[in-house]
Amino acid sequence: MSKQFDVVVIGGGPGGYVAAIRAAQLGFSVAAVDEAKNAKGGPALGGTCTNVGCIPSKALLQSSEYYEHASKHFGEHGIEVKGLSLDLAKLLGRKDTVVKQNNDGIQYLFKKNRITFFHGRASFAAAKDGGYELKVAGAAEETITAKHVIIATGSNARALPGVPFDEESILSNDGALRIGAVPKTLGVIGSGVIGLEMGSVWRRLGADVTILEGLPTFLGAVDEQVAKEAHKAFTKQGLKIELGVKVGEVKSSKKGVSIAYTDAKGEAQTLHVDKLIVSIGRVPNTIGLDAGKVGLHLDERGAIVVNDDCKTNLPNVWAVGDVVRGPMLAHKAEEEGVAVAERIAGQHGHVNFNTIPWVIYTSPEIAWVGKTEQQLKADGVAYKAGSFPFLANGRARALGDTTGFVKFLADAKTDEILGVHIVGPQASELISEAVVAMEFKASAEDIARICHAHPSLSEATKEAALAVDKRTLNF
Ligand code: NAI
Repeated sequence: MSKQFDVVVIGGGPGGYVAAIRAAQLGFSVAAVDEAKNAKGGPALGGTCTNVGCIPSKALLQSSEYYEHASKHFGEHGIEVKGLSLDLAKLLGRKDTVVKQNNDGIQYLFKKNRITFFHGRASFAAAKDGGYELKVAGAAEETITAKHVIIATGSNARALPGVPFDEESILSNDGALRIGAVPKTLGVIGSGVIGLEMGSVWRRLGADVTILEGLPTFLGAVDEQVAKEAHKAFTKQGLKIELGVKVGEVKSSKKGVSIAYTDAKGEAQTLHVDKLIVSIGRVPNTIGLDAGKVGLHLDERGAIVVNDDCKTNLPNVWAVGDVVRGPMLAHKAEEEGVAVAERIAGQHGHVNFNTIPWVIYTSPEIAWVGKTEQQLKADGVAYKAGSFPFLANGRARALGDTTGFVKFLADAKTDEILGVHIVGPQASELISEAVVAMEFKASAEDIARICHAHPSLSEATKEAALAVDKRTLNF
């Protein structure tokens, strides 16, 4: 007799584990299945985000930033550092510890919420009695049945055609997090989020980093003014960014990797590097689900087709996160996971796609929510813009980090905030205020009239809101 559950969640990343917790809170009997393994073969819950994405990259960004501060910026504070050295094994080991704390945290949350966890790969076996029979293969071998299935199987790194990842020389987001010795030269293909974050980590640790980007514009989805400021800052730090290239043959040997490409002027070039990170986007992961067995629809990209409510074409089968349409962001997946659990319970779960924040954790950090100026222009929306530089913010001066600015875009007539764009220190934290404001349909004046602590970076947010009405106080 197979084990029966109200809800089975396939995938223990941010979309899946949060959906499982919410479903359990709502009183359902819940099972979660995840196949990821840690170095000892045990479960590694948390998906790409926890194991080879958001969490380990932030650990490395923090460590590498400390290293760069110690080697280049402590002197400005009158702190002399002699004999500075890098213990890369320890630095990487600390990252692994942070990952494990998060893995274990999710296992604890499953226990706390009485969620049954199966360590293995789940696939559809059959549609049965209004529900589904699923096979679990791996450390746990089981057949389980579910009234509702939530698929949250995430995504995998996209490889260049004919250039598979070996995670030794040609690295995905996974290998990029565990290079055993700082490479002298590092190539990165794709100047997106992963390329910039991982390129920054290894540059700070001493690598000579060249990024090759296919598009002629840098960070095309980001507000143009922000992208320009970020490009200036990254170039000054020593990241070499080549735009508008066409990557050709990539050859890997014991000596390193050579990348033939055509530059923006149409001239043939070759880049020789010790290691190459390929960060050109990700593809939805439906490997092993046996979607065909139950007739689950996938689109031409391999993503599971869902409607606005994350419903698939099959009754009581839902899908959330990277495996469906929309931005591949952990927090988007979480919101969808919660909403689906609530819909299963007959509630009205809701995800507002207009207020999903974006963050790139470089230095300066880049964060935004809502429309960019170029989008508003393209849509013919009448808007007002106001910005405030961190150079004029007392806390930023005290921090010694005055790069960048906060920029508000508000409706010309109603003053409703349409977008907020930040490049600068702690942008990832500062953006929350803008998200809250937009969720509540606040006007720029609302933010301008709210008391912000002094001295704080958040005063730059208030001042940018004031700038919409051309009445900054400190600039
Ligand atoms: P991405 O979509 O952010 O950037 C890929 C870049 O590669 C683009 O600029 C694209 O024009 C370029 N590209 C594509 N094909 C190319 C080619 N053949 N030659 C040269 N350039 C090419 O993808 P990325 O950085 O791989 O990240 C994957 C996903 O992970 C993204 O959806 C991202 O949002 C997510 N992520 C989010 C993070 C965050 O929120 N901080 C951190 C890391 C990843």
